[in-house]
Amino acid sequence: MTTIALVLAAGEGTRMKSKTPKVLHTVLGTPMITMVLNSAKAAGCDESIVITGHESEKVEAVLDESVHPVFQPTRAGTADAVYVAKDKVEELLGRSLDNLEATNPERGVLVVLSGDTPCIKAETIKRLVDHTVETGAAATILTAISDDPTGYGRILRSDEGCICGVVEEKDADAKQKLITEVNTGTYCFALDNLFTRLTRVSNDNAQRELYLPDVIPVLLSDGMSVEAICIEDAGEAAGVNTRAQLADAVERTRKEINTKHMLNGVTIEVPALTWIAPEVTIEQDVIILSNARITGNTHIASGSIIGPDARIENSQIGENVRIDSSIILESEVHDGANIGPRSYLRPHCVIGKNAKIGTSVELKGSVVGEGSKIPHLSYVGDAVIGKNVNLGAGTITCNYDGKTKSKTIIGDNVFVGSDVMLIAPVTIGDGAMIGAASAISKDVPANSLALERAEQIIKEDWVPKHFGTH
Ligand code: UD1
Ligand code: CA
Repeated sequence: MTTIALVLAAGEGTRMKSKTPKVLHTVLGTPMITMVLNSAKAAGCDESIVITGHESEKVEAVLDESVHPVFQPTRAGTADAVYVAKDKVEELLGRSLDNLEATNPERGVLVVLSGDTPCIKAETIKRLVDHTVETGAAATILTAISDDPTGYGRILRSDEGCICGVVEEKDADAKQKLITEVNTGTYCFALDNLFTRLTRVSNDNAQRELYLPDVIPVLLSDGMSVEAICIEDAGEAAGVNTRAQLADAVERTRKEINTKHMLNGVTIEVPALTWIAPEVTIEQDVIILSNARITGNTHIASGSIIGPDARIENSQIGENVRIDSSIILESEVHDGANIGPRSYLRPHCVIGKNAKIGTSVELKGSVVGEGSKIPHLSYVGDAVIGKNVNLGAGTITCNYDGKTKSKTIIGDNVFVGSDVMLIAPVTIGDGAMIGAASAISKDVPANSLALERAEQIIKEDWVPKHFGTH
């Protein structure tokens, strides 16, 4: 059976009051649309289609290559949004979906999701698909009981409790508005005949839109069955229409992820002050102190202590690493290394085993060898540093001459005194020593001492002569 996910994302999201299309707003660094697509994939959907419209190029830019974008030219409503995907669905399925006699979900289903429901879980999508197949229904709609159903379509049921349709807020009468069971905007449809029936949906409603839920009465009038699953936890399927609701989605995601890690053996000192993105992996016995934000494709190996005050993005952290109040972006920190307090590792740094990047050090695009130390107040950019090197306090690589960036190469066992300027391109050979306060612009051979310093002048009794005695 082919399961195709179709994510609606053509809308502008006016209530976000943003230049950024709604589905590109992020939850812990991940665009909402990506979260929905990840859940669809994890639920076993074979293919994914995204319906784009408003700022389609921007939305398409974040999509994985395997996702098929389909442009909806006129945003005529959610039924139209699904209909525009007909050709693409037929192409993916390898057969026409017109003029079929029977409707059988086992011949393929379409899971319709909203790009603005980032918390929807793979298990829920899977349940929806399984239920459709097991019951042989033409559609299953995911509903929720809402404390405040305002804005949602209300579920209409017959006296026997069967689904008969959905009435939108703007079309609902006073009595219908009291219904607390709402449409989450998530559905599973048997693909046979779905598109032919969508053409029978009319826009005879308050918003002059083609409403997707209006296909339900069409299916029922053709003698098909329509099922509903009511989700226990309404928040999971909640739509994000405002920034306040976006913050709710972040909060919900944060709690869920932290709980998962804690159950897996990670200590999180203050969960309310810890933000970990869904794709981050953390091994057992990692300790995360307060105020940590860990996002992107990050892995943290066992025994490491992170924080307080740490931001780590897209980085690989080895075992028993200590990261204290520092920022680490797109870098690798190997076993036993010690970072911070207050250091800043910009992208493409590799910190070797047991190396130390100490207080207020900025690193960019540099490799620091095993056991090497940059303990205090340095800037190191575009450098390759060997093993067991010591860079004294305030060492700076001058890697930029205003036009080009140049490399600094430092061999193994080099000792650099404090406040040294290494004017790149420059190479320091193995075992060399550089005297404090030198400005080094020429290569230094292995095992040599390099010193560049103006001679010290002493003028005895100069001070009282100028300022008088106290
Ligand atoms: C929709 C449902 C409502 C449900 C609610 C749940 C309809 C008519 N109503 O209402 O029953 O309670 O979701 O959140 O479906 N979109 C397109 N193309 C369009 C129109 C919309 O791609 O032409 C997209 C939007 O970008 C959005 C999604 O479809 O992601 C839902 O559309 P929206 O207008 O927000 O519908 P709601 O009023 O929220
Ligand atoms: Ca919505």
